[in-house]
Amino acid sequence: MTSPYALEGRVAIVTGGSRGIGRAVAGALVRAGARVCLTARDPAAVRRAVEELGGVGLAGSVGDPAHLGELTELALRTFGRIDVLVNNAGTNQPYGALMDVDPDRRHEAFTVNVEAPLRLVQHVWRAWMSEHGGSVVNICTEGAGHVGPKVGAYGTSKAALLHLTRQLAGELAPKVRVNSVSPGLVRTEMARFVWEGTEDAIATGLPLGRIGEPEDIARAVVWLASEAAGWVTGADLLVDGGTRVGAAYVPESSASGTYGVHSRLRSSAPGNS
Ligand SMILES: NC(=O)c1ccc[n+]([C@@H]2O[C@H](COP(=O)([O-])OP(=O)(O)OC[C@H]3O[C@@H](n4cnc5c(N)ncnc54)[C@H](OP(=O)(O)O)[C@@H]3O)[C@@H](O)[C@H]2O)c1
Repeated sequence: MTSPYALEGRVAIVTGGSRGIGRAVAGALVRAGARVCLTARDPAAVRRAVEELGGVGLAGSVGDPAHLGELTELALRTFGRIDVLVNNAGTNQPYGALMDVDPDRRHEAFTVNVEAPLRLVQHVWRAWMSEHGGSVVNICTEGAGHVGPKVGAYGTSKAALLHLTRQLAGELAPKVRVNSVSPGLVRTEMARFVWEGTEDAIATGLPLGRIGEPEDIARAVVWLASEAAGWVTGADLLVDGGTRVGAAYVPESSASGTYGVHSRLRSSAPGNS
């Protein structure tokens, strides 16, 4: 019997497939039996990923509408079908208070994080999925559920992507399922400035005791892309090591953990004996 997780004969487009989460997603899709079409801006990195994984690649920015059309054509011309689209490429720039950041750079964040996924869905819908069906997975972020200093453009654009996921899930059903995965902190270049030097402290405060690896996210994406998730659409799958529920977690070595402040507060809270 074929596993419902298998993707034999399927074809997937993965944006930002040259490193980090996208590279792990592409690898996991290939291991599940799919052929992949990748994109990223650095041509050498795209070439390397294609050499390692097979499939095809096209260098360019998802912020360029023409590139998205060419990418869709390449996948269809090469493989004759497009079953899965993973909108993974994203930017966490510009940093800063929303009142201070350059409006053009703010606009760029929305172009890459929201407009590009929408345009690419439109391309694959028209080229293949409206007739034959398929599955779309958008990579959002656990952070889209919070506000925070300096990451307003990122958070706002990812929150829009979350909404877009649900909107498209309704519009494209029943042919196409549209879901998202929201990662917590994952060991990639984009997030290096967060975990480098602080990883142990962050891990101690996380209920599952470690930061994420790209493969943690890739497994969730493959599940959502596969028939195993055949009755799932419009969902956001949080893959965050328990970040969201961290406030209820008391680390064994709470004195050194991120939530050490919380445990100190609890131990002196009214009603504690
Ligand atoms: N790492 C985390 O902790 C974390 C947490 C939550 C959500 N996420 C999300 O996960 C996704 C992947 O992030 P990551 O951490 O894996 O980042 P990463 O390691 O920096 O990798 C990003 C990938 O996307 C490509 N890329 C970036 N901008 C692009 C553009 N405009 N057009 C085409 N490709 C582009 C990069 O290649 P080029 O530079 O060559 O273009 C690279 O292949 C993002 O959407 C991010 O928001 C990450």
